[in-house]
Amino acid sequence: MEYRNLGKSGLKVSSICLGAMTFGEPDAKSFMHGISADEKTAFAMMDRAFEAGVNFIDTADVYGNDGLSERITGQWIAKNKKRDQLVLATKFRFRMDATPNGTGASRYHIMQAVEGSLRRLQTDHIDLYQIHMQDYDTPEQETLRALDDLVRQGKVRYVGASNYAAYRLVDSLWTSRAEHLHSFITLQAHYNLVTRELERELVPACEKFGLGILPWSPLAGGFLSGKYRRGQPPTDGSRYAKWKERLDGFDNERNWKTLDAVESVAKELNSTMPAVALAWLLNKPSVSSVIIGARSVSQLNENLAGAELKLPEAAMKLLDEASAFSLGYPYEFIRNIQKKW
Ligand SMILES: NC(=O)c1ccc[n+]([C@@H]2O[C@H](COP(=O)([O-])OP(=O)(O)OC[C@H]3O[C@@H](n4cnc5c(N)ncnc54)[C@H](OP(=O)(O)O)[C@@H]3O)[C@@H](O)[C@H]2O)c1
Repeated sequence: MEYRNLGKSGLKVSSICLGAMTFGEPDAKSFMHGISADEKTAFAMMDRAFEAGVNFIDTADVYGNDGLSERITGQWIAKNKKRDQLVLATKFRFRMDATPNGTGASRYHIMQAVEGSLRRLQTDHIDLYQIHMQDYDTPEQETLRALDDLVRQGKVRYVGASNYAAYRLVDSLWTSRAEHLHSFITLQAHYNLVTRELERELVPACEKFGLGILPWSPLAGGFLSGKYRRGQPPTDGSRYAKWKERLDGFDNERNWKTLDAVESVAKELNSTMPAVALAWLLNKPSVSSVIIGARSVSQLNENLAGAELKLPEAAMKLLDEASAFSLGYPYEFIRNIQKKW
């Protein structure tokens, strides 16, 4: 396992981060109902990941009902006495209860959310505390000041953003700088071979400001594993048998062409499609660690192999070209003119 600095910080994380969104079997109210791993399987996946050298786990207060994913993660850490060897990341911001302040990025909600996460995770500190999505209703400065207080209190070590528009992220980074507050060191974002829109603005912004990118849904929810085939219905029990409209959203020429390229690279390198899709992300310079998702130890093993796979330049080029997308204005205008003049 390779260890990389988390953004421009000194913190070392494994290039694979274990995503905990699938941990536990939540009831029908949860979007993950019926497509998760029970507690025993979640424990087995944490055992296996740790044994393979993964030192980084990503969860969120909102995964599973009433913090189920955090509770399972906390129980495994306590049982195995692994807290000091792990980099533990969680998130706040989405709705945890029906009260007016049960959601959002206000100081009020953050102070409440952090206590809940610390309790469920059975720890006195969170290594990376992330805002799950920007909040239009709260001034960025209020959020940053509250997070800075948590760092100063020792409850949080580093802070990160997720699901931010580039203008807001850059505004946030400048606010932190101007007000001498701890600033985001990471951006957790939807990034994979079929979802590359963040390359327009967010990737250059992260490169300029030294943020490490943590791609979420790196297999596009399983689409890039190759188990969904053009014109064929999804296999029963798979994620997109439940979320059919998402699979419909992937059904276009460019995405099937991308999948063909992933398959041909996998064959050429005697590897698997999930490993190739993950290795493509790991080769992107601004990526610190890829947050993998799995529902069984065998899926996890297949995905862990992505960390060991070295993609030759020709394979990267093939995958980049097959999944290319139109950058649009002004990006293409700037790129083309810059080349000429
Ligand atoms: N910040 C955010 O807003 C956000 C959003 C989403 C996720 N995340 C983070 O990112 C992590 C990963 O997200 P994700 O679960 O969507 O990742 P993903 O890798 O894109 O999808 C994982 C799903 O794909 C299928 N799969 C995985 N490996 C496979 C394999 N080798 N062969 C066949 N199928 C395979 C499984 O679904 P089935 O077997 O059920 O089909 C699995 O549950 C989460 O745990 C969470 O930590 C963050």
